Amino acid sequence: MSQQTEQAALCATPASSATEAAESGVTELAARVRRLAVERDAVILAHYYAPAEVQTVADYVGDSFYLAKLAVELPQQTIVLAGVAFMGESVKLLNPAKTVLLPEPAADCPMAHMVRAETIAAARERWGSDLAVVCYVNSTIAAKAASDVCVTSSNAVKIVRELPEGHVLFIPDRNLGRYVAEQVPEKDVLLNDGCCPRHDAVSVVEVQTLRAAHPEAEVLAHPECTPEVLAEADYIGSTSGIIARAEASEAQEFIVLTVRGVGYELHRRCPGKRFFFPPTPLTCADMDSITLGKVARCLETGEGAVELDASAPASLAAKRALDRMLELAGR
Ligand code: 13P
Ligand code: SF4
Repeated sequence: MSQQTEQAALCATPASSATEAAESGVTELAARVRRLAVERDAVILAHYYAPAEVQTVADYVGDSFYLAKLAVELPQQTIVLAGVAFMGESVKLLNPAKTVLLPEPAADCPMAHMVRAETIAAARERWGSDLAVVCYVNSTIAAKAASDVCVTSSNAVKIVRELPEGHVLFIPDRNLGRYVAEQVPEKDVLLNDGCCPRHDAVSVVEVQTLRAAHPEAEVLAHPECTPEVLAEADYIGSTSGIIARAEASEAQEFIVLTVRGVGYELHRRCPGKRFFFPPTPLTCADMDSITLGKVARCLETGEGAVELDASAPASLAAKRALDRMLELAGR
């Protein structure tokens, strides 16, 4: 999954038209980003939803679990995280001594804020020690701190299955929570009313319309989609799971029900295969706000550093929930 950034591919070419001039500008900026990263001994990590121009300059591109896990293993003391705020916070919590730079600190995940402390308190009150609060990483530090373990879409089923408690409060995503509940019927999974507004907006009708137009296509869906949409899918998984499935499958056409940013890696890894996205614009405006220029600026100025007090009780508790995820996912 790691990406060798090819410096050779970054050489500027003479511009003979407006398009070529624009491309040349991007190429020069990309070369500057790579120079700055080397000068600063920084490593650039990008999520699959980041704009293509940002993914091309990254040392590593992956899903949210891969990026969090990798950040702990890398030797560099400066990590540029081309992703949304919760991703940068998770990396900083796991690596308090490292500098974590977010190119666009205002890029946030709306779902991260969709759980209330009262919901957690009420479930704890009701089920006591037989309750585990399981927190999707798309969440605030406070929500993680109030939880027993974090999960991502690539490990949620495995981790929930392994928990000793009989009851699980899954926060904040009701769609991923419901998907987990179906896969782990032996647990009583309580749902919270949060969701990703982008995935939740995909409709069954548009999936069926796409299927009618491309009857040979496999439907690959992220579990943040609604249960009705997931019922239409041939494969359900995280962004990296979707990419791996498209690569391994013999099918040549795919209907992809996750943010369009994955298209860059899908085309890179599956040359010749065709990918169709629903007309509901499956874009993440927050991810789209991370530009190459902002990556360059944070490397130049050190702006966008994630600041948190690593010894504060909330940070320590949130880190425990993330560490437990790494431990349970690795078993
Ligand atoms: P992944 O964990 O699959 O990368 O997804 C993150 C995300 O934000 C999905 O919307
Ligand atoms: Fe959050 Fe949805 Fe964007 Fe993922 S796609 S970062 S869940 S808003």
